[in-house]
Amino acid sequence: MRKIVIAGNWKMYKTQVESLEFLQEFKPHLDETPDDREVVLCTPYTALAIMSKSMHNGRVQLGAQNVHWEESGAFTGEISGPMLTEIGVRYVIVGHSERRQFFGETDETVNRRLKAAQQYGLIPILCVGETKQQRDAGETESIIANQIKKDLVDVDQQKLVIAYEPIWAIGTGDTCETKEANRVIGLIRSQLSNANVSIQYGGSVKPDNIDEIMAQPEIDGVLVGGASLQAESFGRIVNYN
Ligand code: 13P
Repeated sequence: MRKIVIAGNWKMYKTQVESLEFLQEFKPHLDETPDDREVVLCTPYTALAIMSKSMHNGRVQLGAQNVHWEESGAFTGEISGPMLTEIGVRYVIVGHSERRQFFGETDETVNRRLKAAQQYGLIPILCVGETKQQRDAGETESIIANQIKKDLVDVDQQKLVIAYEPIWAIGTGDTCETKEANRVIGLIRSQLSNANVSIQYGGSVKPDNIDEIMAQPEIDGVLVGGASLQAESFGRIVNYN
């Protein structure tokens, strides 16, 4: 059975105080959320511990936005799997396009992070996606296939979520046509050995397009940036029709 996973990626937004304010406002929306939907908030590192203490009923899972492949060591600015699991983190985003674009993340480092995440008991959310230029050049299929192939070497597909995030749709309001997102996600699935991997769509997901996105048969959830920052809009998203 493919699980529905609705995740918010807060990127570099919200202090601890702002995170707790969000949670207070967001919690009532969860009363209406069907049990079979996994709700995840990927907050900045600084908010994880305090959020974890305030979510003891477990209806919302916590996610981080990166993880290093070593358990500890001289890696200034990085964070390890045990540091995250100790404070109750369950998920971690790996290979987001912003890390690939601005912080030198490669398929090789993505692969190492994925394996380490699983080794330390975290479920990685692997992000893949093409640029506008690559799409216009007709390279979408080959780019995605290549990322999936390289990123997933020796990765356990039983403990994995994938997010298809076309880079040109991120933060632009320019959502990928739902049928096209469905098609690409189907292609990703055809490359996997485990047919039950949940595959999300990400890129300008909003309250007014969530119902249409989730109606697509291949799409098992969403990874939401901007619209996950307000309790009202993320509440509408987790309670899609
Ligand atoms: P937006 O929802 O703001 O387009 O961001 C998508 C994203 O990057 C989620 O990881």
